[in-house]
Amino acid sequence: MKNTQSTILSIDNHEGDEPLSNHSDNASFQSIIEKRMSRRTMMKGSLGTALMGFFATTAYSPLAAAGSNKHSPLIGFEAIDVSAADTVTLPKGYKHQVMLPWGQPISGHQPAFDPLTNSGEDQAHQVGSHHDGMHFFPIEGKDPYQGSSEDGLLVMNHEYVEPRFMHASAQGKELSRNAVPLKADGQRDADEVLKEIHGHGVSVVRVKKQANGDWAVEADPRNRRIHGLTEMEISGPVRGTDFVKTKFSPDGTKTRGTLNNCAHGVTPWNTYLAAEENWAGYFINHGEQPREQTRYGVTKEGSGRYAWELADTGADEFVRYDVTPKGASATEDYRNEANAFGWMVEIDPFNPDVAPVKRTQLGRFAHEGVVFQPAVEGEPIVCYSGDDARFEYIYKYVSAQPYKKETAGGHLLDNGTLYVARFNEDGSGDWLPLVFGMGPLTPANGFNSQADVLVNTRFAADTVGATKMDRPEWGAVDPKTKDVYFTLTNNSRRTETDAANPRAENDWGQIVRWTEADGQVNAKSFNWDLFVLAGPESDSDLAGASLDGGNIFNSPDGLWFDADSRLWIQTDMSESVVNTGKWEQFGNNAMLAADPVNKIIRRFLVGPVGQEITGVVTTPDQKTMFVNVQHPGATTSPEDFAKGSLVSHWPHDGALYPRSATLVITREDEGIIGA
Ligand code: FEO
Ligand code: CA
Ligand code: CA
Repeated sequence: MKNTQSTILSIDNHEGDEPLSNHSDNASFQSIIEKRMSRRTMMKGSLGTALMGFFATTAYSPLAAAGSNKHSPLIGFEAIDVSAADTVTLPKGYKHQVMLPWGQPISGHQPAFDPLTNSGEDQAHQVGSHHDGMHFFPIEGKDPYQGSSEDGLLVMNHEYVEPRFMHASAQGKELSRNAVPLKADGQRDADEVLKEIHGHGVSVVRVKKQANGDWAVEADPRNRRIHGLTEMEISGPVRGTDFVKTKFSPDGTKTRGTLNNCAHGVTPWNTYLAAEENWAGYFINHGEQPREQTRYGVTKEGSGRYAWELADTGADEFVRYDVTPKGASATEDYRNEANAFGWMVEIDPFNPDVAPVKRTQLGRFAHEGVVFQPAVEGEPIVCYSGDDARFEYIYKYVSAQPYKKETAGGHLLDNGTLYVARFNEDGSGDWLPLVFGMGPLTPANGFNSQADVLVNTRFAADTVGATKMDRPEWGAVDPKTKDVYFTLTNNSRRTETDAANPRAENDWGQIVRWTEADGQVNAKSFNWDLFVLAGPESDSDLAGASLDGGNIFNSPDGLWFDADSRLWIQTDMSESVVNTGKWEQFGNNAMLAADPVNKIIRRFLVGPVGQEITGVVTTPDQKTMFVNVQHPGATTSPEDFAKGSLVSHWPHDGALYPRSATLVITREDEGIIGA
């Protein structure tokens, strides 16, 4: 099939990489906020006082003004300014080291990194690209948050790749950040495809603090890459059903690979969960698509995201991305391949011989990540996950069996109840169960089993009347209060134009939070409010005041609570808008720290040009922080790429191409990060 660049560039749009697939009639979260705000605005006369009254109806009340320089017992650094410089900026008294750039070998010294000559096989032994969610597992391997602060397994996701920086054949060509080099016959070089598939997934790398204070990779049998071809188990209600039977796994128990792993989760039993976010576009179905493809945005025309199905060897491991039915039955082709994606994938970093497991009871959607409530002996396990696409939903899972430290494990994720959130106008909210046979999830409405409900999680959530949100990204649980915070990054497709509602066409995003009813984490209802409306000084709100020069931000994405209940907020302005137009005032993507009690936010870190800041964790002593820098230089235009004139070479001046990498941040006085 003849292919063109333009068919491959379908995700190069203003809104980012998330397709809009929700065409249901459910009320949107924005319209609910607007109704609540406009009612109070009419009563009290301004957006600020509207929010004061708005918060007073919930469990929260603003305690302090929003100025970024107000005193906070939690935040001890001075806010840094916005910056558009091609460098990492930190507050006074902080320093950083760069570690684990894309391509660094993790299983010995070979294969050494060379972007132009490394093969597909080489990439399977090197750090993947586009670093994202991440956790530091102390080397003792007993508790995800206690143990060594100088030696551990750093586990991180690699969300996607930038093919133009990966292949010699791309040099001199006018390629955008999403485009791939094609051969003259319209096919793709199979080894280039393999390199891209191996560039995705997860890295498990032992890292250790050296005598000079720097961190370095340690050789360790647990160092490994999980990538787009790693064999995985399917568990939970979808395992063994017709939905996941393929030529590779005729009994529907296995699949190969995980893709587009954005954020992550850490289980109370010390394993890692990698989320599968924008997986749908990698697959193409030229024929009539079933609802389990249309509701997720499987590609319909041209080629899949990187045209992997066009690899010139025609090998089974590549053609499987074309899910158009070709054989006589599902076990003779790959029509069901996409049904094995869209899940949370459990990885045990300490046991490299155990295959990753796709936990289907947590639902199938564009999982941004997952965050757990602290486990309590004898109580159920509770976690939350957002579906990052415009007008999609926030979910909660409650295990059927109680947590018991001695026997806890992945089985707790296979048997339980998945709920979806409805945010009511009065500040209350409801968790609506997605259980086959319950409520409208019956054969009369097109649902025939729990596996059917899960494979079609979005459709089930539409059916029960969940609230459409503005792209739910990361969640975080305050370890002191158990309150849950979620970033809603932006949604420019909002159409309301009421002047009383300043958030029509939501370019800036907000952070919502809730407390479960009666303090019970497995409650069926909750109370919610908005922690902050992000944006410029002219259009933002934190505790009744606007953000200022020390804390303006937009498009919140990564979110993480440290052990002291400091909330870390990471931004992801799209490459298509960052440093342009009304986004210019925000500079490069950044990370801020928030004091959730006193409602103070302060800018902590600004990254280099073209990147997003994503992924953050500290060592247990909180004196070393790891932060990921994803896609530096991605704002290089196709024309400039062809000329070899890049907007960034970070982290190595003089290098051919920029590379995603991990920052190791410490204080010069060796104090706690952020304090
Ligand atoms: Fe991969 Fe929704 O960010
Ligand atoms: Ca993200
Ligand atoms: Ca994002």
